[in-house]
Amino acid sequence: MTYVVNEACIKCKYLDCVEVCPVDCFYEGENMLVIHPDECIDCGVCEPECPVEAIRPDSDDVSQKFLEMNRQYAEQWPNITRKGEVPADADDWKDVANKFEQHFSPKPAPR
Ligand code: SF4
Ligand code: F3S
Repeated sequence: MTYVVNEACIKCKYLDCVEVCPVDCFYEGENMLVIHPDECIDCGVCEPECPVEAIRPDSDDVSQKFLEMNRQYAEQWPNITRKGEVPADADDWKDVANKFEQHFSPKPAPR
């Protein structure tokens, strides 16, 4: 079992989730985060931290669509454990639907 970050995170990236994770299993792309499914201990403490409900258990229908991409990009993107800078226009993106098709970036966060 794991929690999964879905497309609601894209271009919002509020980063309220990262510091609460006891096993530091968030990874950072250019415009969203993912969770490594093999590292997540399913504690659930990150879920209520996200203001756009981008973090859901893998039993959720939406999570099923994003589980494998969480795994794929967790292996390519850098680990993030501290809250950094939130995108200045994050609030403009919080109600946008279907962000994955049009706005997902496979690039890692610049470090
Ligand atoms: Fe980390 Fe727990 Fe969230 Fe998994 S459910 S990502 S272990 S805080
Ligand atoms: Fe994304 Fe929500 Fe965390 S928007 S960065 S999953 S707080």
